[in-house]
Amino acid sequence: MERDIVLDRMHSTRRMAADVGGDHGGGDDDYESKKKAIPISTRFANFIARNGLLWPCLALAFVVVLFSSSVVFYTRSLVCVAPTAMDPHSRVAFFGLDGLESDFGSLGVPWCRSKHGKTVEWTTKDLIKGLEEFIPIYETRPIKNNMYGMGFDHSFGLWFIARWLKPDLMIESGAFKGHSTWVLRQAMPDTRIISVTPRHPEKYLRKGPAYVDQNCTYFAGKDFIDFGNVDWKSVMSKHGVTDLTRVLVFFDDHQSELKRLKQALKAGFRHIVFEDNYDTGTGDHYSLRQICDQSYIRGGGHSCFKDSDEARIRARRKQFWEKAVDIDELCEPGEAWWGVRGYMRDDFNHSNKPISYAEHFQNSRFVESILEVYWELPPVAGPSLTHQTRYDPARSVPPIVEDGRYGLFRRIGLGRLETSVFNGYTQMVYVQISDPDP
Ligand SMILES: C[S@@+](CC[C@H](N)C(=O)[O-])C[C@H]1O[C@@H](n2cnc3c(N)ncnc32)[C@H](O)[C@@H]1O
Repeated sequence: MERDIVLDRMHSTRRMAADVGGDHGGGDDDYESKKKAIPISTRFANFIARNGLLWPCLALAFVVVLFSSSVVFYTRSLVCVAPTAMDPHSRVAFFGLDGLESDFGSLGVPWCRSKHGKTVEWTTKDLIKGLEEFIPIYETRPIKNNMYGMGFDHSFGLWFIARWLKPDLMIESGAFKGHSTWVLRQAMPDTRIISVTPRHPEKYLRKGPAYVDQNCTYFAGKDFIDFGNVDWKSVMSKHGVTDLTRVLVFFDDHQSELKRLKQALKAGFRHIVFEDNYDTGTGDHYSLRQICDQSYIRGGGHSCFKDSDEARIRARRKQFWEKAVDIDELCEPGEAWWGVRGYMRDDFNHSNKPISYAEHFQNSRFVESILEVYWELPPVAGPSLTHQTRYDPARSVPPIVEDGRYGLFRRIGLGRLETSVFNGYTQMVYVQISDPDP
């Protein structure tokens, strides 16, 4: 680029020298001196008389466009200014717009492999259209501050998937105050929900906002029974469901996803969404993300070597993202990095069992043997737009609305939401499973 500019300058210098040296012949020299003698106003009037107003109008339009785009660019920068170390402005200054995600690009984002390479039907265009529709719905949510529950990204993901699949029945495990039940209801207004959760959401109603659904069977309070212990065959037939492949199961109960996957498969369910698909080194339960983080998978596997690029990149990114983990947090002294420092966590980290790398590897092979589709919900928008400061975008797939697309971000209504709702992204995942091939 720089070289092109230099060459271009050299060419124009040469052109000027040739012009001055009289490349056009003596007659032209005469013409040049006469031209200099004519006043500018007369030259302009002559130009208009010869060419009309088209060219001056075009030039004026060009100046107006240039001016307004620089105003838009300038005000966009103003919108991004915030005074903390985690602020998007300093991150952009530090990494550059591409650098927001490029560092970990070299370390990679592990992606579970599906058996037959199948993927989802929907496209980014469908997701953008969905966002446009969902934002006004989300603004009417009964629980405005859903701390410890889902934020905007995952609410959108769950709503979108449920609406796309149009299941005959929806099951959720882990309801808290009922926000996710409300999201499922918005997606499918007339479809039966079964909610499995220790504390009935109506209990929260006494203290503040909560949501209790009228078309929902609650296994809650004294009727609570863990998903793994429910006789799903009899519950399904009680609800008139004969085809279990038409049921959507949503887990937000912080249990080992390996355990839940096996239970769901055994019961005959095929469509599953996990809310908290935690990254390696983070979270309170063993997740699909962690299971598929394997050296043989592109982007998987880690090094605990302190004098390495990975260690340096992690240390640098840790300064900018609350959930980024550096090499010390990632690795146990014995260099165990899988799961969380070599541990398989379960049940909100109430159970924390060490596993060997061989076991971790076998878990991944098992998951691969039953996976038809694995799809991580992208973050709804890049961090320079949402101002989120928690998850490292380098450890996620590219967002639906990418950094720099401020016009789109505003046009579809994302700009109306308060920034705190974008802070809860943990790679929600949709999987489709089937029995292992014989
Ligand atoms: C993170 S909250 C769920 C948030 C909710 N989905 C939302 O979006 O607001 C986790 C919930 O799981 C519940 N829970 C704990 N153990 C559970 C279990 N074994 N089965 C189902 N839910 C469980 C907790 O009581 C809590 O309500």
